[in-house]
Amino acid sequence: MRNIKIIGLGEVVVDWVAELPFFPGPDEKIDAISENYFSGGVTANFLVAISRLNVSCGFIGAVGKDPYGDFLIEEFKKERVDVRFTKKKAKAKTPVNFIFIVEGEKTIIQSPHMQTTKLEVSDLNLNYIASSNLLHTSIIHQELTEKAIQIAKSNNVKISIDLEAQIARRGWDALKEILLSADVVIPNKEGAKIITNTKNPQEAANTLINQGIPIVIITMGKKGVLITTEECQKVIPAYDVEKIVDTTGAGDTFNGAFSVGYWIKEWSLEDSCKFANAAAALKIQSLGARSGMPTIDMIQKFMNERKI
Ligand SMILES: Nc1ncnc2c1ncn2[C@@H]1O[C@H](COP(=O)(O)OP(=O)(O)O)[C@@H](O)[C@H]1O
Ligand SMILES: [Mg+2]
Repeated sequence: MRNIKIIGLGEVVVDWVAELPFFPGPDEKIDAISENYFSGGVTANFLVAISRLNVSCGFIGAVGKDPYGDFLIEEFKKERVDVRFTKKKAKAKTPVNFIFIVEGEKTIIQSPHMQTTKLEVSDLNLNYIASSNLLHTSIIHQELTEKAIQIAKSNNVKISIDLEAQIARRGWDALKEILLSADVVIPNKEGAKIITNTKNPQEAANTLINQGIPIVIITMGKKGVLITTEECQKVIPAYDVEKIVDTTGAGDTFNGAFSVGYWIKEWSLEDSCKFANAAAALKIQSLGARSGMPTIDMIQKFMNERKI
């Protein structure tokens, strides 16, 4: 089987995106500034970010057997993301998320079909995972994730985890086995605070490191990222972006670019985070999770202009 370097296990969804002048209150009706739909989903976006950087990658997950599902698979193919293990499920509905943007900041309402449109443990292909370099997951489907991690671990495949707030709410006891198997955990600050029950990213990172996770990278929006290992703790500032259009997919772009830098190109943690901050800074200047995801050349040009 062709060796795919990075495998994503998780969700792919349709994003309906409306830009709003302000957020309406209960019983209020307002006109949107724009209305569009895009392909999205945390893990799927992560893979597209990687593919734009010319690293081979594939998606393990499911869509419904419906037009939205066909659209998502076509989009993956256009982006050269491998879909041999992306399944169309007859009795499932492709999830649609609703995203509202006010002055560049996103609010996301997730589809209940994120939970119901999923693979069975028996759908996992051992060789596909075992022959990759990195398994990245958002832990959306817990039992499936546990099994995939078991396969990865016993075949020396590195494990990277994105921890979003709504997954972190399952609590430490539910997630600890998965989190402790990770080589790197990359939550945003909400996810990190919730899983550790702490008040700031520094405390959250220290708690996770003390539990035994080797590398914790917490993304903090416009404040950049906090790298923590047993040896050091350091903030890598974000780039100043004058006109932020849409921060949807910022974290996914960061995670994808970081994974390419750290696991494939074998750069240092710090250099990988600077590269990933630049990738995310470019992304947030376009509408839609994937529209602004850059190529290597675009990132290099941007970093040369900024001289950091
Ligand atoms: N307003 C911003 N200005 C500059 N960079 C940003 C901004 N928002 C996000 N980023 C970049 O995107 C990364 C991820 O954003 P964050 O909001 O922490 O994740 P998520 O999208 O998962 O909530 C940040 O670490 C930073 O590099
Ligand atoms: Mg995120």
